[in-house]
Amino acid sequence: MEENQWNVKLRDQRRRSRGALDLRIFCFTILLSLGAFLFLLFSLMVFRESFRPILIVPRISSSSAMAMSARDSRSNNNGGSHPPLKLYDQVVFPDHVLLIIHQNRVPTLNTHQLSCLYEHKLEVPSEILTLPVLSIDRDDESNLQIARCPLPPTSYSHPRLTSMANKPEGERSDDGDEERSVKLSEEVSPPHWETLVYEAMTDGDSVVVFAKGLNLRPDRASDPAQFLCVFGWNLSKPKFIFTTKAITAAQEVIRCSLPLSIKTKPSKSEGITVSIKTQTRGILASVAKLKNQNKHRREKPTYKHTMCVCTMLWNQAQFLKEWIMYHAELGVSRWFIYDNNSDDGIEEVLGPLRQAYNVTRRTWPWLKTQEAGFSHCAVQAQRECKWVGFMDVDEFFYLPSTSHSEGPPLIGILNEQAKEVGEVRTSCHSFGPSGHRRAPSKGVTVGYTCRLGSPERHKSIVRPRALDRALINVVHHFHLKPGFVFVDLPRGVAVINHYKYQVWDVFKAKFYRRVATYVADWHDKEREGSKDRAPGLGTEAVEPPNWAQQFCEVLDTGLRDYVMGRFMDTETRLLPWE
Ligand SMILES: *[C@@H]1O[C@H](CO)[C@@H](O)[C@H](O)[C@H]1NC(C)=O
Ligand SMILES: *[C@@H]1O[C@H](CO)[C@@H](O)[C@H](O)[C@H]1NC(C)=O
Ligand SMILES: *[C@@H]1O[C@H](CO)[C@@H](O)[C@H](O)[C@H]1NC(C)=O
Repeated sequence: MEENQWNVKLRDQRRRSRGALDLRIFCFTILLSLGAFLFLLFSLMVFRESFRPILIVPRISSSSAMAMSARDSRSNNNGGSHPPLKLYDQVVFPDHVLLIIHQNRVPTLNTHQLSCLYEHKLEVPSEILTLPVLSIDRDDESNLQIARCPLPPTSYSHPRLTSMANKPEGERSDDGDEERSVKLSEEVSPPHWETLVYEAMTDGDSVVVFAKGLNLRPDRASDPAQFLCVFGWNLSKPKFIFTTKAITAAQEVIRCSLPLSIKTKPSKSEGITVSIKTQTRGILASVAKLKNQNKHRREKPTYKHTMCVCTMLWNQAQFLKEWIMYHAELGVSRWFIYDNNSDDGIEEVLGPLRQAYNVTRRTWPWLKTQEAGFSHCAVQAQRECKWVGFMDVDEFFYLPSTSHSEGPPLIGILNEQAKEVGEVRTSCHSFGPSGHRRAPSKGVTVGYTCRLGSPERHKSIVRPRALDRALINVVHHFHLKPGFVFVDLPRGVAVINHYKYQVWDVFKAKFYRRVATYVADWHDKEREGSKDRAPGLGTEAVEPPNWAQQFCEVLDTGLRDYVMGRFMDTETRLLPWE
């Protein structure tokens, strides 16, 4: 354990010193690109001025960010500003535009360093509008950064992302009626989220492609013959595209074989765009690029971890510390967190946890794609993990007959399973607010002790190699390959405490946080009375009378007693996550 933490620190230091080197390379790159930019600008002004409008922008106050302008770059040529960002891809969502920044050497940007820039389509010379970015985030796994811009106002172009001068606030020029000219590239309409190939990853000799808008049936396999996968650096150049047949198709996931050229030269394929082709719709728009997972392709899995967990969350950072520390004690040693754009300070919570636990956070900006996210995570985890649990951060395994005498108890249960067991199912007990009006300070496991009598649904831990190749899953439950079976764990051995109906302030956030593709929205009146809804709850986020006393049929202090006995400091009476 100690050696382990030491290794983590060492790795951090190495990463930091590499960071310093990166910074130097980065600065050098800026100087180079600045030179190139000036040259380009100069030639454009000389040769193109009569053909293309130079865009004149009225003075913009220093608080709103400004694009790299000729003037800025001239007065700033000591490396004071970032180079224009190379946009990797854009996707139009119903209420924002997602921008994926592909520039590895860009340090982690914050919302003050970027802004969204829109060009008026009708006015010549065109007017430029700048708006602040809505959010920005960086991914642990791929190192991509994503940013969100507001949708363009009527008559304005799609947004471009600009980095603003890196000067201290006060120094930014703020004088007189200066004019700034900005050269913008041709407008290309970015794809809409409704029909889009959004992720792709290699898995052995095949590629798994994630697509929105196929409208395949939930929970069953569709005919793969109607799909092809296409691969290429630029899918608009038909001569340079490879095509392979689909092997499986289900829900939002298509699996195809890999083209021979990628199979034989996996290292050369990083960055290749992957899409889906159907007879009726041709090649779908795609922002999915192959990553360098290929390097492990032929190696055998190492199974560094017996038990890993995949979760998808949004603004649930407050639960993470207790959830991770608690499950680590039971034997979970690896966490894959798929984050749908949390803005609740999740990095501050994860920072210290990363020192001691193996946690990675992947930004998963794809709306309502919980099933696809779990399929993605299953493929991601299969190299490292013997078993993977799929659960939410308000769900806690409770092992009533727990003993730590022979190692972590959850590992004990998994190691006992026969080889043909591909899935271990656990029933869930749904806990109510247990009389609380404010979130209990000792955490959910100690705070909530009253629950409904009968269990709801089940959760599963699966062997990734036992999963059906189509990766079909609905509500945290996967289809298995032929030859594998599932077992139900008796409730005396394991159960999940699901802190489903917490105090009102916490619970109401769920109204805005339904992630599953195939589960009706809470405020969808048609499904009133369905099992996914809180019984007796209307379709509005208004606190029902007597909320604190509801969902309380059985007093169940089992997990509370275990946690207090196992984790509580005998002197301070504090739990490690307090
Ligand atoms: C892809 O190819 C098309 C057609 O040749 C071209 O117009 C476009 O600029 C290319 N895109 C990129 C990103 O190179
Ligand atoms: C983190 O992962 C390594 C293997 O990569 C493992 O040996 C170690 O026990 C894990 N750490 C924790 C705290 O689970
Ligand atoms: C995910 O994040 C987006 C952007 O913050 C948010 O609008 C959406 O409601 C979230 N939840 C779901 C269900 O994807």
